[in-house]
Amino acid sequence: MITVSTIKELREYTKQWRREGLSIGLVPTMGYLHEGHRSLIDKAVKENDKVVVSIFVNPTQFGPNEDLSTYPRDIDRDKELCEKAGAAIVFNPEASEMYFNNANTYADVEKLTDGLCGLKRPGHFRGVCTIVSKLFNIVNPDRAYFGEKDAQQLAVIRRMVRDLNFDIEIIGCPIIREEDGLAKSSRNKYLSLEERAAATILNKSLMKSKEFLENGEISAEVIKSKIKAEIDSELLAKIDYIEIVDKYTLEPVRDIKSSILIAIAVFIGNTRLIDNFTFELEEK
Ligand code: PAJ
Repeated sequence: MITVSTIKELREYTKQWRREGLSIGLVPTMGYLHEGHRSLIDKAVKENDKVVVSIFVNPTQFGPNEDLSTYPRDIDRDKELCEKAGAAIVFNPEASEMYFNNANTYADVEKLTDGLCGLKRPGHFRGVCTIVSKLFNIVNPDRAYFGEKDAQQLAVIRRMVRDLNFDIEIIGCPIIREEDGLAKSSRNKYLSLEERAAATILNKSLMKSKEFLENGEISAEVIKSKIKAEIDSELLAKIDYIEIVDKYTLEPVRDIKSSILIAIAVFIGNTRLIDNFTFELEEK
């Protein structure tokens, strides 16, 4: 496996692969890799001849009061994980390599970014879509892999790829969790022991709501209130949002009639965590 830090060098490899008729998978990440990322890389390795993992803490997707400066990093460990998983290249550029000082061009997806994290983190998805577009143009992959952990991100990227005619297949991958149900996240590193225990409330509250859905509850308001009550019982938890939306349009629903996404964002101490699950109503 090789590590490259410049766009020029990366393109030399990917162009050569294309000439040889090899397929390319891309796994975009911000590093501090865990089994969630690993599952994306494993799938990419299975489905493509060559896999590029990008590791870049993208400054433009962080708000002014967010955790850009403290975002966890461990490039040596990350490279080891990528090598073991069978990636061909780790692309690990500096911010100055990825952004021109006077850049004026962005990729921005409307509507789908109006709610959920888009509402709570203004500018976040513009940053995500811009960097992902750049990575798509640099690597020119056949397939790109994203986790359902970031459900809105996945929906937004699918829409961008469709709307802008990127010739790339977007592959969504299931959420990988700790044994106690907490979704794996680089940000879990911020949690103290006490907070780590409290963080299980995210998945617990979602599983509770699943029971109500399976028992036939169809009111989004009722389901949301059940989730709220559960999370409020945890002293260290502060709700950022609880939303029930259509899985495809991400628009809020009143009654649960179709495929829905229940998405939550919760502060555990100062750490903002997200989780979600999708629920398909079975035809009766
Ligand atoms: P990052 O948070 O590093 O996540 C990289 C990819 O790993 C994303 O597609 C994310 O959904 C997936 N992922 C994270 N935790 C996961 C888990 N527990 N199970 C399954 N997949 C998981 O998402 C980003 O980086 C950035 O926004 C990025 C797309 C790289 C653009 O900068």
